[in-house]
Formats: sequence, C-alpha cells, structure tokens
Amino acid sequence: MPRAIQIAAFGGPDVMQLVDLPVGEPGPGEVRIRHHAVGLNFIDVYQRTGLYPNALPLTLGMEAAGVVESVGAGVTHLQVGDRVAYASQPPGSYCEVRVMPAKCVVQLPDGIDVETGAAMMLKGMTAAYLLRRTQPQGGLQPGDFVLFHAAAGGVGLIACQWARAMGLNLIATAGSPDKCLLALQHGATHAINYRSENFAARVREITEGRGVKVVYDSIGKDTFEGSLDCLAPFGLLATYGNASGPIPPVNLGVLGAKGSLYVTRPTLFTHIATREGTQALAEELFAMVSSGAVTIPIAQRYPLEQVAQAHRDLESRATTGCTILTL
Ligand SMILES: NC(=O)c1ccc[n+]([C@@H]2O[C@H](COP(=O)([O-])OP(=O)(O)OC[C@H]3O[C@@H](n4cnc5c(N)ncnc54)[C@H](OP(=O)(O)O)[C@@H]3O)[C@@H](O)[C@H]2O)c1
Repeated sequence: MPRAIQIAAFGGPDVMQLVDLPVGEPGPGEVRIRHHAVGLNFIDVYQRTGLYPNALPLTLGMEAAGVVESVGAGVTHLQVGDRVAYASQPPGSYCEVRVMPAKCVVQLPDGIDVETGAAMMLKGMTAAYLLRRTQPQGGLQPGDFVLFHAAAGGVGLIACQWARAMGLNLIATAGSPDKCLLALQHGATHAINYRSENFAARVREITEGRGVKVVYDSIGKDTFEGSLDCLAPFGLLATYGNASGPIPPVNLGVLGAKGSLYVTRPTLFTHIATREGTQALAEELFAMVSSGAVTIPIAQRYPLEQVAQAHRDLESRATTGCTILTL
C-alpha cells in the first residue's frame, strides 16, 4: 500500500506519522499521480501547527512531481504517462501516490527534471506572482529598488535570480553572513544580515534616503514595522507569510503617517485558482527555468520518512534554497 505522512493532531514535528494509505481511482476532473519527489514548504509548518487549520486527519504537503497513472472523466490536458508537477490546494503531497484535482496539475517540459519540478512549483510560481504581478502603483522598472526578506530561502533564492533578470536592484535580508553571500551570488545587489543589523536603517543608507518601491515580507511579526519604514512614499508592502508569527492587529493610520503606503496580503492560491491561471503562471516559471535565467537550488534532500527532521531544519532556519523529500 502507498506510504503517506499524516497528522492526527496539530503540533510539533513529532505529530507527523508514516502511514499506509489506500488510494482509489480518480473521479471526474481528477488524476492519480505517482510521485517521484515532494517539495517542502513553510506553509507545511503552518498546516502542521494548525496556524492554517484543516480538517484532521490530514496528509500534509502542497507540492510534488511525478507521473500520471490514471485519468478521470473529463480531463483533457493530461494523459497516462505524462511527467507532471503541481502546487495545489488541497494539501496531500507527502505521499507516494495520490488522487487530486487535475486543474492544479501541469505537464513538465522535457528539459525540466522531476526533482526540479517538485522543488520549484510552489516557490517558483510565488516568486513569479510577487515580482511580476504584485507591484506598486506605476509598476517596477529596471533599476528600481525592492527589498526581499529571507532571500536565501526557497522562494528567496528564486526571487533573487528573477529580479536580476528584470533588472531590479534587489536588497536581500538573510539571517547569517553565509546566507547573505548566497543571496548575492543568486542576483541580489545588496544583502543585509537582519539578525545583526537594523535593516530599515541600512535600506535608507543603500537607497540614499529614498526607500524602496516594494517590500516582499514573508517574516510577518518580527519585520512588519521595519518593513514599513523601508518604503518610499506610495510604496507597497506585500506581506505574504508569517515565518516569525502572524502580524498583530494594525492601526491603518500608520500607513498615512509613513507616506500614503499600500499593504497587500497576497496568496499564490488566488493566482492558481483555475486551470488557466495555473497553466499561465507555470509557463512563466518554465520559461525562466528553461532559459537558464533561474536555476532551482535544491540544497537539502530527505527521505520521506525523515520529514520530521526536514521540518525541524526548516523551522530552525538551518536550510537554504529549496528542499525536497525523496521517495
Ligand atoms: N503567500 C504566498 O503565496 C506564499 C507562497 C509561498 C511561500 N510563502 C511564504 O514565504 C516564506 C518562504 O517560504 P519557503 O518555503 O521558501 O521558506 P524559506 O524561506 O526557505 O524558510 C523560511 C526562512 O524564513 C526566515 N525566518 C526569519 N525568521 C524566522 C523565524 N522566526 N522562524 C523561522 N524562519 C524564519 C529564515 O531565513 P533567515 O535565517 O535568512 O532569516 C528561514 O530560512 C514563508 O513565510 C512562506 O509561508 C507564501
């Protein structure tokens, strides 16, 4: 029987259990996929702890790649034997075989291997929608400054490369000198160790007092106020994650006082809610990866049964780039 990682209660890494899970035939609009690799994402931690609640028991995981084994009625864009990848709702990718909605699943181009596919779909499409579609009034032009927190992480190292391809000056923050170096090597033009430096003050120095047009902030509680202080007038804060915890309630008046700022709280899942939306965003990512402008840095691999260690490392800031679970 196929193996899967399930939780029966919310909690720490130890709530994850390896179980045997029967998998049936796909219904209308569904496919059955045999995974070759599974992507690890910080959202898996939020779902494991219950910060993002789901019904229990829950098979975790939002990203994977593999081969289509069976196709349900009405599915026209996939066939048995196709190499595919996805980032999706509902959770359930931490497993060997699953049935899922076909609208979330896309074919992998020939030049992209399945491990890369498993590592990049959620993180790469996130970098894509942030930099290309989550922009300030007037858009982003080559030479503009943006600030990207956690730039040595999974989304971060892809975003550094993507921003370089767009000609942006991406100021990276990261939690150690080595991570800052990694961000610079991937295309950031400046890097700040926000564990030892006041990042808002450094951003003002780097931009000669002007501030940045956008801050992409996945840290949440610890960086929210500092991120607002980095923005030029009319600048945009895209707060898209909570690695340090959720942002407490905010007095919106502060946005006026700091320069008529904008704040948005975007999620990938709005962008890929439809089959057409998924395909369009995936193709943007495939084009960047196929051209060589973006490489997918898989820095950690763990066997599926060692997923608890993978979560511990991700949560303790011990990982860089992308992480996959192998089967
Ligand atoms: N809204 C969306 O559409 C969307 C989609 C994908 C991802 N996300 C968010 O984007 C972020 C990055 O995701 P990822 O999977 O690529 O993870 P990741 O960036 O590889 O890992 C998270 C990083 O956050 C930093 N961090 C800062 N404070 C932290 C703390 N208190 N605890 C743990 N980490 C902390 C760490 O880097 P340093 O040591 O360098 O600080 C850590 O490596 C996550 O917050 C995730 O939820 C949002």
